[in-house]
Parts: sequence; C-alpha cells; structure tokens
Amino acid sequence: MASSLLTGIDIATMAEGGAPYGMIRDGAILLDGATMRWVGDRADAPAGDQVEDLGGRLVTPAPIDCHTHLVFGGDRAVEFEMRLKGASYQEIARAGGGILSTVLATRAAGFARLVDDALARVDTLLGEGVATIEIKSGYGLDQETELQMLRVARHIGTVRPVHIITSFLGAHSVPADFNGSGDDYIDNVCIPTLRAAHAEGLVDAVDGFCEGIAFSTDQIARVFEVAKSLGLPVKLHAEQLSNIGGTQLAARFGALSVDHIEYANRADISAMADAGSVGVLLPGAFYTLRETQAPPVQDMRDLGVAMALASDCNPGSSPLGSILLTMNMGCTLFGLTPEEALSGVTRNAARALGLTDTGVIAPGKVADLAVWNINHPAELSYRIGENRLFKRIYKGSL
Ligand code: NIG
Ligand code: FE
Repeated sequence: MASSLLTGIDIATMAEGGAPYGMIRDGAILLDGATMRWVGDRADAPAGDQVEDLGGRLVTPAPIDCHTHLVFGGDRAVEFEMRLKGASYQEIARAGGGILSTVLATRAAGFARLVDDALARVDTLLGEGVATIEIKSGYGLDQETELQMLRVARHIGTVRPVHIITSFLGAHSVPADFNGSGDDYIDNVCIPTLRAAHAEGLVDAVDGFCEGIAFSTDQIARVFEVAKSLGLPVKLHAEQLSNIGGTQLAARFGALSVDHIEYANRADISAMADAGSVGVLLPGAFYTLRETQAPPVQDMRDLGVAMALASDCNPGSSPLGSILLTMNMGCTLFGLTPEEALSGVTRNAARALGLTDTGVIAPGKVADLAVWNINHPAELSYRIGENRLFKRIYKGSL
C-alpha cells in the first residue's frame, strides 16, 4: 500500500515525558497502511509516496470513549422530569424505575431497533473524531438479551469505521423477578450468561456495579473469579454513590480501571496505584445526578494513578453523547487541566481498555487521528458545544 506523509500540522502526540501535550510544532507523520511509521519535525521527514498538506491544523490521537452503555432501548426523559421535581436517582431505582425500566425497553426492542438507535449515538461520537468506543451490556439481565446487546455492539464495528470493545455488565442491577435476591441472580443468570457470552467471543472485559442499589463486594467477587478463570480482565463501577469497598476489591483483582470513584478515599486510590488501575472519571453522571462530591483527583495525581474521562453515555445517569463536552466537564467540574482531559480521552483511555496500540501518536501505533480547526489543544476542552473537527483518520484512511 502507498505511504502518505501528512504535513502542515502541529501534533499533540500525547506521548509522555516530553513537552506539554507531547507537542511537535510544524511536524509530519508518515502513514504506512493502518500504521504510523514515522513522527517528527517536518524538516527531518522521510519521503512518502504521496503528501497530504493539512494547512496548519492541529492533529491529536483520535479520541477514545472508554466507558459507555450506548446500546439500550427507549429513553428515561420522564425520570429526568421526576428528578427535577424532587425524586432521587436511588428512590426511582428502588421503585422499579431507573436501570430496570431500561431493561424492559431493551428486552422489547429487538436487534434491528437496538442497532439503529445505537448507531445514531455512535455517529455523533464519530463526528467528534472518536475511533474507539467501549460498549457495555447490562440492560438485558437475562441470557438472551445480554447476548443480544453484545452482538449489537459487535455488529456496530462491522457497519461503521470504529473499533468496538465490549464489556459484560451482567452484574448491573437485580432484575425485578428475583425479588431482590442478588445472590440467586448472580449464580443462576449472571455467571452462566458470562460463560455463554465468552464462548461466543462477545466479551473483551467484565464489569459490575458495586453499590447499595446494585451488588455487594462478595457478589461482584464471585463474578470476577469467573472472569479470572476465563482469562478476562475486569473493571468496576465503584464508589459512585457511597463507599462500600468496590475499589479495594477491583484493585485486588488487578482491574484495568475503576470507574466513577467519587466516594473513593486516599487508601482506595493507593490500592489502585499498586494495582496499576486507571481511574475512569464520568462527569456526565456527576452533572446529571447533581452530585456534589467530586472524585479525589489530587490523590490520583499525588499517588500516580492515571485518569481517563468517558461519556458514560446511558439513558439514565448520563444521557451524554459528546466526548468534547465530557472533556469540558472534566475540567470545569473536576478541575482537570485541559492536558489531563486530553490524555484522559486518548492515552489513559486506551490504558483503561488494555489497548497498547492506540491513544498516542508514535511510530508503530495505529493511525487513528483527529485533525482539528484549532491552534492549541486546550481549545478542545475550552469550548462548550462547538465541534472543530476537520477530519477523522481511521486506520490510516484519509
Ligand atoms: O454508569 N452506575 C451504573 N450504571 C450506569 C447508569 C445506568 C443507568 O442509570 O441506566 C452508570 O452511571
Ligand atoms: Fe457506567
């Protein structure tokens, strides 16, 4: 395949250890098929079979949305209205709404409808340059629908130019017909469904929701033991609404990431540091639920825990379909710097998914790039509701 030399670019490589943002002004990137072969100063660039001048624009790694629930049926606009009239997220969940109302809509939707609805959300993300999206199950809570959600997720990767990573989230909520018996559900539905999904090649990682309104650490541990026996990495929704020990549990299992963590304490962050787990921050849920306790960002900085940012796109706690707005919220709500926000949706988001071939601009990495009509990378976090994407390059395709 012919090689292409990209010129007329400033490059925020997001490589660690050098200039802020790994910035190269007046740089060049040599693309060889789906891979980057060379990255550096324009003046030193090797020749390519063809040259593409991008007119002085800024190039970043294509953003990665590393935590979404974007396959689901229906919507929960009425619950949004209820919350504004005073009901809490937990009250709505305990009354059979919340996640369980989306479960009913997802079971009723059917494959084609789930695909169509999800594609609308995927296309919005691709329009902001996103090249990799993680998608979770968790709105089926029976074997048939959990498998269907994961098949829908895999299908999306065949009909759009995007890399899809799937997480099995069978331990998301106790279905209504189990009368609150999380143990029964975990042992008789969740774990057998995980085995079936894995046998069908549908699972890249195993997730859970460890919370008072969801599952205990003991219940999640049973799911994680099975994940471990199948050779699958784990991650966890932990310490979102309260602290019940999910972060420590996830760290014991060497989790790729621990997500939400508003109520995590310094000892929890220290356990994540020891385990090498990434902290995935989800400002869309914090904003939507009007949470007031921010995640312990300074502890993560002090203890060297990598921070990622994701949309958490879901119909309840985070009906957010924009990675750019996620970055803005990460800065305004959690106090991240714009550089932390950009590394949170590139280098650290890749790490949260266990991906080593994407998230930074460097030789040997996949050529997933975003070209922006901006001068400085801080502009990506700074504007609210304005998309300056010029072009997305997916696997080297211009
Ligand atoms: O990440 N925390 C649990 N799960 C989702 C919310 C799902 C929902 O409300 O439908 C989350 O916030
Ligand atoms: Fe989530």
